[in-house]
Amino acid sequence: MQISFAASGAKTPSGSWVVGATEGAELQAAAVRADKASGGVLSRGLKVSRFTGKSGQFLEVLAPAGLSVSRILLVGLGKPETLDEKALETIGAQIAARLQTLGERSAVFDIEASKGVKAKAAEIAAHLAFGAKLRSYTFDKYRTKNLDEYKKHLAQISVLSRDAAAATRAYAGLGAVADGIFLARDLVNEPPNILYPAEFARRVKALSKLGLKVEVLGEAEMKKQGFGALLGVGQGSARESQLVVMQWSHGKKNAAPIALVGKGVCFDSGGLSLKPGSGMMGMKGDMGGAAAVTGAMMALASRKAKVNAVGVIGLVENMPDGGAIRPDDVLTSLSGQTIEVLNTDAEGRLVLADALTYTQRRFKPKCLIDLATLTGAIVQALGFEHAGVFSNDDRLVERLIDAGRFTGERVWRLPLDPFYDKMIRSKIADVKNIGGANSGSITAAQFLKRFIEDGQVWAHLDIAGVAWQDGEQKVQIPSWGTGWGVRLLNRLVKENFET
Ligand code: BES
Ligand code: MN
Ligand code: ZN
Repeated sequence: MQISFAASGAKTPSGSWVVGATEGAELQAAAVRADKASGGVLSRGLKVSRFTGKSGQFLEVLAPAGLSVSRILLVGLGKPETLDEKALETIGAQIAARLQTLGERSAVFDIEASKGVKAKAAEIAAHLAFGAKLRSYTFDKYRTKNLDEYKKHLAQISVLSRDAAAATRAYAGLGAVADGIFLARDLVNEPPNILYPAEFARRVKALSKLGLKVEVLGEAEMKKQGFGALLGVGQGSARESQLVVMQWSHGKKNAAPIALVGKGVCFDSGGLSLKPGSGMMGMKGDMGGAAAVTGAMMALASRKAKVNAVGVIGLVENMPDGGAIRPDDVLTSLSGQTIEVLNTDAEGRLVLADALTYTQRRFKPKCLIDLATLTGAIVQALGFEHAGVFSNDDRLVERLIDAGRFTGERVWRLPLDPFYDKMIRSKIADVKNIGGANSGSITAAQFLKRFIEDGQVWAHLDIAGVAWQDGEQKVQIPSWGTGWGVRLLNRLVKENFET
């Protein structure tokens, strides 16, 4: 979908003319203009409809007499004081969704700041456009039939603003973030016979064209270096495990980077501790952490962020075959610590253990954040609206919570505590890979903490409930894979780590 910005009133709208009203059916200036130009169809329409200007409401006038536009779409903006960036994105997505349903091809968004709106004119336009862009995503590459039914015809939107030049600039950064989100969604949506570790690595390699430095370690190299935990998970699979390292170094020279580490289990069958059929469905998405890291690195590179950032993703397939790890096996991790594997379905923490050690030893990051679809228990605890965050640093948690509020990718803190650490003591090795029947997300985080070196600022995000959506889809996420984390990480970097 093409997005452009132009000065308000600069051109006669064509396609759909989208104008706004705040709560109480208060028409904005552009809506008043549209009303006048059409001989009062909006004011007449208001009298015979339920439209009150609440967010999510529409009043549609098709083929208004005296105007060349295909329709006037009056959109409810809600209360002006609630119109922040996130609300504007939702409205942009709602408009796009509506226009998609109607089969429209082009539209002009003519919505401005009303009294009481805090966002600046340029921000309003940019975030409306961003919402519409997020809604334009499709993943139809495996359909061969009824393509027209699925096709989104809306190909062009022009967003009018009092400050079109500033809006264009504001959108440039957001467009880069949208690219990262779309990549992350694609990666999560791809079926596991197509997106196995080496193919995932190939797709990351393709990001080199943005100036990202991408390295791929295969099994031979990882074996040499001692990635016993990660390789253990992959050893029951016919597909080769991979570790991918992405570097974006546009911050201060030699300044320690922020490091992002992602769980990339391209399919999680559970291994010999096999999942039941119902629990296995959707486990192509078990690389959602790696997808978020990859999407975030793409966003940073696309918008040329002034930061030193590294992304490290551990890519494996967790499968059961004669060579697979067994419950009772002991693995030696890259850190040197031994791990008693008592359940091969608790594999994500094994992959992360080695990826975390590698990242800390090689890059000495000033801040380390891992993302993983780590536990079913986090879905039990927080459902689909928050990711769980575990951290040894209160300030980092604050920053993540703030970034979450702004972007809508919200996080909720859960505790770490020596009491829970006791639950992962092994009878024969340094640690075991499962805790007890309870507090599963916390014992998983405690396990990761064993691989965090002294003094390392670290946060772990358990994104098992938010990386994909099986139920109702959010208006700005028209896909199973959500791309969750890209916006959050981008915002975190933008607000706290850029020079
Ligand atoms: N990938 C799963 C976690 C998961 C479950 C993500 C459901 C999304 C939805 C993870 O590898 C796993 O299997 N965890 C086990 C851990 C247990 C064996 C200690 C779980 O949560 O049941
Ligand atoms: Mn598992
Ligand atoms: Zn898993």
